[in-house]
Amino acid sequence: METNNEPKILMEEIESKLNSINSLEELNNIRSEYLGKKGKITLLSSKMKDMNIEEKKEFGKNINKLKNVLENNLEKLRIVLEEKEILQKQEEERIDVTLPSTKIQRGSSHPINQIIEEIENLFISMGYDVEEGPEVESDLYNFEMLNLPKGHPARDMQDTFYINEETVLRSQTSPVQVRTMLKNKEKTPIRIICPGKVYRRDDDDATHSHEFHQIEGLVVDENISMSHLKGTLEVMAKSLFGDNKEIRFRPSYFPFTEPSFEVDLTCFKCNGVGCNMCKGTGFIEVLGAGMVHPNVLRGCGYDPKKYTGFAFGVGVERIAMLKYEVSDIRDFYTNDVRFLEQFNVTKKGGVTDESK
Ligand code: PHE
Repeated sequence: METNNEPKILMEEIESKLNSINSLEELNNIRSEYLGKKGKITLLSSKMKDMNIEEKKEFGKNINKLKNVLENNLEKLRIVLEEKEILQKQEEERIDVTLPSTKIQRGSSHPINQIIEEIENLFISMGYDVEEGPEVESDLYNFEMLNLPKGHPARDMQDTFYINEETVLRSQTSPVQVRTMLKNKEKTPIRIICPGKVYRRDDDDATHSHEFHQIEGLVVDENISMSHLKGTLEVMAKSLFGDNKEIRFRPSYFPFTEPSFEVDLTCFKCNGVGCNMCKGTGFIEVLGAGMVHPNVLRGCGYDPKKYTGFAFGVGVERIAMLKYEVSDIRDFYTNDVRFLEQFNVTKKGGVTDESK
């Protein structure tokens, strides 16, 4: 019978095709060409419906054989081809561990942050807490509650960026004094430092920046006196600049402290002898400080008859410029890697192993 030959013919066709399969993709194509819904074997088996029983038996057997042969062969081939593809991929993706590595430039903490951290660690070791406050601050906290009512002439000491009449970019970290006292509600002792950014409408030049960093210090308790302030600042100065340094208090004016002082440090260049750096005085101004004004204490809910306190404010860039002998404040902000690299504490002499 004519149809009986068809499985045989198909078998021959399949055998020759199996020999030419080289990839899993070809294998899948062959699978659907013969075994798919409209595949050749599937179509062939549909002819059975017109056959008599005998023919069906014979034909069905041949079709099944055909299917089995094809499926078995495809499965064996699949295993071989999959193995081959994995090996090929491994070969392609092989990593040559002997190749030299790409050099990674490692960054480091910014010199300004290094000074902040150094001062933070010192004060934390003396039992202080580190506080923070917002850079967008109310006029109330930045000025009024610091004993600087609207129209007070001392407001001109700090040329301020106003966002609106009641809101400023803080011109100092001193508003954090107010925030801390209000938060503590007459709880004592208060011992905090607050590092942060401040803003002033200054024209940028070698020693001025419209945006810089300060660290505020505040201590409030019973019986806090000038000697506590002096001792504390002495510890800070010696820790930052060396044991042979002395500090000197010069009377000054800040509305929120009374008495107020500017604090000078032995010139580290000439060690007090007098040079061009200290303009022959032997001392360099480093910070402002004073005893917290009774009006400020009272305004924040602390009875000035019972409590006293001291406060100070340090310019971080100023300390960094003095400590590292940097003559232009803008060097801290332009972020030239050649400048910053000098402060990379992980480098020896400013050069890391990577760059060799
Ligand atoms: N806030 C002052 C300034 O920016 C510094 C200061 C702080 C002075 C605390 C006294 C007490 O100039």
